[in-house]
Amino acid sequence: MQIIMLGPPGAGKGTQSKRLAQKLKVSHISTGDLLRQNEKEQTSLGKDAKDFMNRGLLVPDELVAQMLQERFNATDIKNGFILDGYPRNLNQAKTLEVILEKKQISIDTVIYLDTSVPVIIQRLTGRRVCSGCQANYHIKNMPPKKDGYCDQCNQTLYQRTDDNEATVMKRLDVYKKEVSTLIDYYKEKHLLVEFSADEDAGVVLQKIAEYLSGNDSPKN
Ligand code: AP5
Repeated sequence: MQIIMLGPPGAGKGTQSKRLAQKLKVSHISTGDLLRQNEKEQTSLGKDAKDFMNRGLLVPDELVAQMLQERFNATDIKNGFILDGYPRNLNQAKTLEVILEKKQISIDTVIYLDTSVPVIIQRLTGRRVCSGCQANYHIKNMPPKKDGYCDQCNQTLYQRTDDNEATVMKRLDVYKKEVSTLIDYYKEKHLLVEFSADEDAGVVLQKIAEYLSGNDSPKN
């Protein structure tokens, strides 16, 4: 199964993609995670992307496309994937189509996680990420068992540099400018399904899983 996960910053794209990928036994591909990994390893892409990310802006399309193209050359893609954070604009959606066409892969579903602004700000300013396995936590909504440490690998948790309120607002502005075109694009292809993501993460996951198994309609 090949799924695109769309939604504003803080909608829970990463949270839901990780859980769903585990459930469906497919790969989770997050362009945000890949860019942060490049930044950590100080690759030339990481150095180029850093400033855009810290300012809440999109990294230039051609840089992200090249990175994604390389990721799609890995063999695990054959088992299916959940693409989280890509595409972010129409140009990226068309680039993705070209990449996938060459591999004779098609997208089955585009999941759109709709979320309200107060929820987004509360989630992102409270998010903590594991420095080891990148698992997501939230200081109130999903706290780790031991304060400051990952439940899964016991590495320290950190706050992303773009998770302050000013940068979150900028990321939201950038998102709002592009999202309606993207939504229309996938609606026209009859691929888009929308879920309210303001609810508890487990409830959202259950609704998505029920929809994917064909037992329910996306109802919000
Ligand atoms: P990226 O890392 O993709 O950030 P984002 O899109 O802003 O999304 P987030 O990761 O902030 O949110 P999320 O929806 O994944 O929420 P999460 O599950 O973590 O991109 C970062 C930057 O990289 C971009 O700004 C850009 O510069 C660059 N970039 C990336 N892709 C690019 C592209 N394609 N083109 C150009 N540039 C690109 O959840 C958030 C918090 O809420 C967590 O703490 C979680 O525990 C909690 N939470 C989640 N769901 C729930 C729930 N249902 N109830 C309660 N709490 C919840």
